[in-house]
Amino acid sequence: MRHLMSPLDFTVEELDHLMDLASDIEKNPKKYAHMCDGKKIATLFYEPSTRTRLSFETAMINLGGSVIGFASEDSSSASKGESVSDTIRVISCFADICAMRHPKEGAPLVASTVSKIPVINAGDGGHQHPTQTLTDLLTIRSMKGRLSDMTIGLCGDLKFGRTVHSLISALVRYTGIKFVLISPEELQIPDYIRDDVLRANHIEFEEVSRLEEAIPKLDILYMTRVQKERFFNEEDYVRMKDFYILDKAKLKLAKEDMYVLHPLPRVNEISVEVDNDPRAAYFNQVQYGVYARMALILTLLEVKVC
Ligand code: CP
Repeated sequence: MRHLMSPLDFTVEELDHLMDLASDIEKNPKKYAHMCDGKKIATLFYEPSTRTRLSFETAMINLGGSVIGFASEDSSSASKGESVSDTIRVISCFADICAMRHPKEGAPLVASTVSKIPVINAGDGGHQHPTQTLTDLLTIRSMKGRLSDMTIGLCGDLKFGRTVHSLISALVRYTGIKFVLISPEELQIPDYIRDDVLRANHIEFEEVSRLEEAIPKLDILYMTRVQKERFFNEEDYVRMKDFYILDKAKLKLAKEDMYVLHPLPRVNEISVEVDNDPRAAYFNQVQYGVYARMALILTLLEVKVC
């Protein structure tokens, strides 16, 4: 039985296969409509979510299966003190697979050690968000036709942004990837990503604070939200929250074939005036997230696809 805690749990070949499957699902949805008949996914969300939880649920329903779960800690027995380990033991009696989001880093990993069903990390604190990474890789591959030989700009909260940590870890395995890390000094990427992932893999990267300086050289611009829920004091959040705002004027500096991605939710960091630009790919990205999660569910449940 396999779980998914980090994008590195899959080899590059397995990721490529998963994305091929996701692309086939996009083209032939009817072929997959009954592949999970009778199966159930449990979505155990101890932290708020719109996309991840609902796209997992949509993915299972699209495959013919059904959904159980909870959307907040308050509405589960965690509020009475039940541990994650006990909860997953119980859920293993009800469902065939589970997606778990938790504010504590490593909580889905703890669950996976006692689970009788595959556990998918749907975001753990500021650590990892591997299914967002599958979504991001599929979006980039679909938009650009490749995952190699690109300059990727990551902008905003690179310190707490788990989507950024997962995406960097996954992309360093492709050839010719360069990163421009755009953040205020206080929100720079953690040392373990800079040293153990980027430097250890001899990846070319630069760290800058001005978006205008970086944007002309990028093939992909990955914007992120400054995450209020990860700050210890309101004053720091207020100081940082509008540090970057991508608007039409800044987008004029970008290449014609640069795409803008964002894991969403967006607050102010992308002006709504950018939404109609053909380079704005963040709502397409949401749709790709459903295909990626359908492919993941089929893979972890070892459903035979002909
Ligand atoms: N991208 C993402 O994780 O969105 P949600 O928090 O809405 O799930």
